[in-house]
Amino acid sequence: MRIILALGIALLLTVGLGGCGNKSQQPAGSSAAPPAETTPPPAAAAFVPPADLDQGPRASAAPVDEALAAQGAQLFTSKTCATCHGFGKKIQCPDLKPVAGQRTEKWMIAQVMHPDVMTKQDPTSIQLMKQYTLQMPNMNLTEDQAKALVEYIKKNGK
Ligand code: HEC
Repeated sequence: MRIILALGIALLLTVGLGGCGNKSQQPAGSSAAPPAETTPPPAAAAFVPPADLDQGPRASAAPVDEALAAQGAQLFTSKTCATCHGFGKKIQCPDLKPVAGQRTEKWMIAQVMHPDVMTKQDPTSIQLMKQYTLQMPNMNLTEDQAKALVEYIKKNGK
């Protein structure tokens, strides 16, 4: 009688614990993944280029902020801009030398921060994408980083 009872309890414990272990693992794994994946798209889709983005004085009309340009010089290499762009030479992407004389500062900041949106919605960027048949990647830059890069492009421009 005692042996049967002991066996019964042992069996119940094994089944009970095994079941618990499996159940607690599965929901944790499946419920953690979706929120992480749904976060980036709304942020990326939030930028809409304003119609007046390229209206007003060209970026080169304002004096260069030397301190920001120095930060921009470092970012130009660390954020891989230099692998595609040069000044006074075309690598496989637009030559950046004339750009500050062609566009507004606002337009350049938008292009550097949201290249993926610009090539779909901004008329100038759409044209560039047709010409170069390559999408400039979004490097997730902050506005401060984009401003520093624009100062660097201004400094190396003409
Ligand atoms: C993989 C290559 C690539 C990288 C890396 C890249 N770009 Fe570009 N960039 C392009 C292409 C191609 C265009 C033209 C628009 C398009 O097709 O996406 C462009 C356009 C631009 C323009 C506008 C040029 C014009 O004629 O008005 C600026 C400014 C610019 N990039 C700056 C940057 C900066 C700053 C970085 C680094 C944060 C960078 N790019 C990284 C490929 C690249």
